[in-house]
Amino acid sequence: MAGTALPSSRALARDLGLARNTVAETYGQLVAEGWLSARHGSGTWVTQRAGQLPSVGATAGRSAARGPRYDLRPGVPDVSAFPRAAWLAAARKALAAASAAELSYADPRGLPGLRTALAEYLARARGVAVTPDRVIVCAGFSQGMELVCEVLRARGSRELAVEAYGHPQHRGIAARSGLRVVPLPVDDRGADVAVLPGSRPPARQAGSPRLGAVLLTPAHQFPFGVILAPDRRRHVAEWAAATGAVVIEDDYDGEFRYDRQAVGALQPLAPESVVYAGTASKSLAPGLRLGWLVVPADLLDPIVDAKRTAGRLSSSLDQLALAELIRSGGYDRQVRRARLAYRRRRDRLIAALAAAVPDVRVAGIAAGLHALVRLPGGVAERDVVTRAAARGLAVHGLATTQAGEQDLGPALIVGYATPPPYAFSTAVARLCAALREVIGA
Ligand SMILES: Cc1ncc(COP(=O)(O)O)c(C=O)c1O
Repeated sequence: MAGTALPSSRALARDLGLARNTVAETYGQLVAEGWLSARHGSGTWVTQRAGQLPSVGATAGRSAARGPRYDLRPGVPDVSAFPRAAWLAAARKALAAASAAELSYADPRGLPGLRTALAEYLARARGVAVTPDRVIVCAGFSQGMELVCEVLRARGSRELAVEAYGHPQHRGIAARSGLRVVPLPVDDRGADVAVLPGSRPPARQAGSPRLGAVLLTPAHQFPFGVILAPDRRRHVAEWAAATGAVVIEDDYDGEFRYDRQAVGALQPLAPESVVYAGTASKSLAPGLRLGWLVVPADLLDPIVDAKRTAGRLSSSLDQLALAELIRSGGYDRQVRRARLAYRRRRDRLIAALAAAVPDVRVAGIAAGLHALVRLPGGVAERDVVTRAAARGLAVHGLATTQAGEQDLGPALIVGYATPPPYAFSTAVARLCAALREVIGA
């Protein structure tokens, strides 16, 4: 948009992993062509070009795609840190070696090389009980969940228990598949799984259908950031095994744990009852649309059938590149780098809030890419969200994730991963200013 300030060539070069000269030359070329204006000491910005205003419709479409100027909503990592060079090297190597079969309509479970690499990685990094034949590659967690819900519904399930606070899109996926969502209360020990229906049922008859189902975020409850307590993990594993229910374990950001030893997956407690689900959306980029399921034996064929029938195959080239990235150690390196960077951001966010708005309390900070910022009682989330928006900052209130009656607000869910490095301090400063305006008022 005309007038938009660009980052300095030094900052952009650092973000993109390019030589500063390359960025400076590109800026120079765009200035020469009239797209950008620059003044020594004042930076570089997008030029206003007379007679070239796009139509209103085009503007609306583009600004919707561009999103807010500063983004502290949860969900998206710092995509400027995507390991472009490592991905390119992996993709080049993978493509050079790709067989004709891999470039044809390939196995709907995913390519064997990726399933093997993922099985090795998930066993090592997340403690998942897995062999490659149990892995199904899918387009992110969302598609994996959609497939599981469809299969559960087709088998007679009517309901899916969900955490009383969780990702609204996932409740939407369940509802679209015909499953009624039933909220489970959440506290500082995760979801209260003791209230699952038929918690102490008679043992399931062999071969009888699995009807119960629950969606959980055990390693890092979204959005509260707590761990599902060990006794609750055991309880839900036993409940599922005894009733034939299915647990969907959303391990969306399990790699990002800061304060102590990684919390492992729930799945190994009941591998024949738990569908473990992971994603590259946090560790690499959501745009890849790559995720993975590890499924109990009896759900394998129905899920693969659903995936094949609807033509929901994943790109072979991206699968081959990801397999190569994992095998070469590039994926681990990226996770380690990102973990360090996000930990530093988290610390900066906590320090800035403590200094500027001591009345808020920050929680859920031991892991992940977001923090819960608890507001003093009586403060309306939407007032802070509105003030932030007036400053060009998008942030979400806790209520956006609420599924039922339980009310644990007011709070904000602050995703600290999304802004590129050059915008992070400004985004945090605007958040603090919006909070001060409302809380101080
Ligand atoms: C709780 C939770 N689970 C899973 C995901 C990942 O979804 P996907 O893999 O479909 O991008 C997200 C992304 O924001 C999330 O917040």
